[in-house]
Amino acid sequence: METKANKNTPSSKSETKAKADTKKKDVADSKSDATQKTKTTSKDTKSDNSGQEFREFFTDELKDILWAEKALLKALPKMRKAATGKELAASFDEHMADAEKQIDTLNQVFELMGKKPATKKCDAMEGLLSEADSIISDTEKGTAIRDAGLILAAQKAKHYEIATYGTLAALADAMEEPKIAKLLRSILRSEKASDKELTVLAVESVNEYAAEE
Ligand SMILES: [Fe+2]
Repeated sequence: METKANKNTPSSKSETKAKADTKKKDVADSKSDATQKTKTTSKDTKSDNSGQEFREFFTDELKDILWAEKALLKALPKMRKAATGKELAASFDEHMADAEKQIDTLNQVFELMGKKPATKKCDAMEGLLSEADSIISDTEKGTAIRDAGLILAAQKAKHYEIATYGTLAALADAMEEPKIAKLLRSILRSEKASDKELTVLAVESVNEYAAEE
């Protein structure tokens, strides 16, 4: 019995494996059918509404980033006032001017989409700005630690914006909207430049002092 069982085990194992493979293949086939079906459906939808759903999604994301820009613009004076170093305060002034320009550019993007500019609350930026508030309340006025914290908060916001504008520009490419993609990439470049400036400020004149405090 035992011998038989032992003898049979490999073959029954391989039978089971073969069955499992067949099953897997069936599942894969049916999945690929499903994928194909989905593809066909989305293609059908596309021809039905000419990518309208995608454009709506894109517009919603524009509303999100417009809210984020406006919220950041509103928060920057507080960050500027809290800054210890003159250079950081000046950098926040520049960020305010940048955000104003970026809001104008976003308004142009809405126009090109045939929509009125509108906002939708961006939970991510709200969270990042509340973190900036905590940094201000948790650090002492007039310290380099506070500036290191403010730079950290500002860079987190910049990175959120960089991710958003990069993706939105790629989506604009997919919609074959080169003018919109160009405008979004111009904002992306300015966000990246601000981020770089903040890094230079941190490395050259803030972090070391903060570490010594
Ligand atoms: Fe921005």
